[in-house]
Amino acid sequence: MTEPDFLHRFEPAPPGGGGETLLLLHGTGGNENDLLPIGRTVAPGTALLAPRGRVLEHGMPRFFRRLAEGVFDVADLRARAHELADFVAHAAKRYAFDAARVVAVGFSNGANIASAVMLLRPECLAGSILLRPMVPFAPGGADPPATGAPLAGRRVLVAAGRADPIVPASESEQLATLLSGAGAEVTLHWSPGGHTLDRSDLTAASAWWNAGGARVARTSAAARTAAARPRAK
Ligand code: MLT
Repeated sequence: MTEPDFLHRFEPAPPGGGGETLLLLHGTGGNENDLLPIGRTVAPGTALLAPRGRVLEHGMPRFFRRLAEGVFDVADLRARAHELADFVAHAAKRYAFDAARVVAVGFSNGANIASAVMLLRPECLAGSILLRPMVPFAPGGADPPATGAPLAGRRVLVAAGRADPIVPASESEQLATLLSGAGAEVTLHWSPGGHTLDRSDLTAASAWWNAGGARVARTSAAARTAAARPRAK
């Protein structure tokens, strides 16, 4: 596996930090600096890993190609989700953080690739804060795992806007159902606003984190260790 080359920023956890790393994923037209303040506010004790999306749409960085607003190039999304998961695995070795304790914080396009990574590479993320996400793949078919509970033990916050002109309320609910169906413990937060984040989103994200962001990361790390242990015959 060659190392995927993302422009990125990494900030180690402050002394006495909890051992988790936040994977910060910006929206269309953003960059690796955008979500650093949110990461520091929501989970101050974590390391921060912030890549810049490698797809350019009229010069605006994104994490995968789209055919039109809200119409994704699913083949590209799948390939880029794997590429991002590989980048996180390499970054964990390079910066010596615990790959089993990575929690994504994604906004809009960044939230969409975060949920694609959760569905395609469940081992990569211990949980996610999805800010104004959409459904990354049509449910069914070969895209999301069809059976089992690959996201068991992972907590996900879906922060949706009641007046979002890009993501209809029904789609936010559909995503929550899709992730719950894959075994995740999903919290759905509704802001009264649109696609732009407001204070209630940050309050909800902090409350979600304080209620167990770290717990889930540890639980899923323990579960993975147990699953990897050979069974006694
Ligand atoms: C996307 O393309 O991921 C969504 O339409 C959100 C956006 O970036 O506008």
